[in-house]
Amino acid sequence: MSGPLVIAVDGPAASGKSTVARRLAAHFGLAFLDTGLLYRAVARRMIDRHLDPGDALAAAGEAEALVPEDVDERRLRGEGVGQGASKVAVVPAVRAALLPFQRRIATSGRGAVLAGRDVGTVICPDATCKLYVTASVAERARRRFEELRGRGEAPIYERVLEELIERDRRDQARSVAPLRIADDALTLDTTRLDADASFAEAVRLVSGQLSGH
Ligand code: DC
Repeated sequence: MSGPLVIAVDGPAASGKSTVARRLAAHFGLAFLDTGLLYRAVARRMIDRHLDPGDALAAAGEAEALVPEDVDERRLRGEGVGQGASKVAVVPAVRAALLPFQRRIATSGRGAVLAGRDVGTVICPDATCKLYVTASVAERARRRFEELRGRGEAPIYERVLEELIERDRRDQARSVAPLRIADDALTLDTTRLDADASFAEAVRLVSGQLSGH
């Protein structure tokens, strides 16, 4: 009999992957995990304790000490936490500490949709379906800029763009589980698609992968 249905949705920051993944989970009646929240929660713990997110040993300790209450999305969305998350994510011991939880979610019940950077390559290499969601860096910066404005912040576009480029570089350059396209992933470029069109295209791609399975 077939095992759990696992849909891996990877991609760079502000590509629209989390929105697409959340809607896919609702559509297919599966659990949903935004794995970036785990790295953000580790960074948040460090910020709250006045620790430097660049301190690898301290980051590993905070990852091992993580409890479900830390994963409170409302406290994790800021750009400072995102940058910190990208720093703690280069530490192999942090990634190792967060791995079992992610695999457990993926394989329990009917399955799950997981969004992140290394779901299709490392966490669930045998996922039933794999999508790589991307968009041009200018468009991703524009979306992040609008999101920050919507939260009442006063972002500067050039700075948002610079921070995205820096984060892309760090996520792609790290030695353990860098952001890359899994060989068997389908790419969804959302540069010219709004949220509804991105979701419709994702359903089409996933349904195609499922029927060929
Ligand atoms: O998707 P996000 O912006 O919430 O992710 C924040 C950071 O966490 C991202 O810059 C890199 C890291 N991350 C990771 O290394 N692996 C994942 N599966 C998800 C996120």
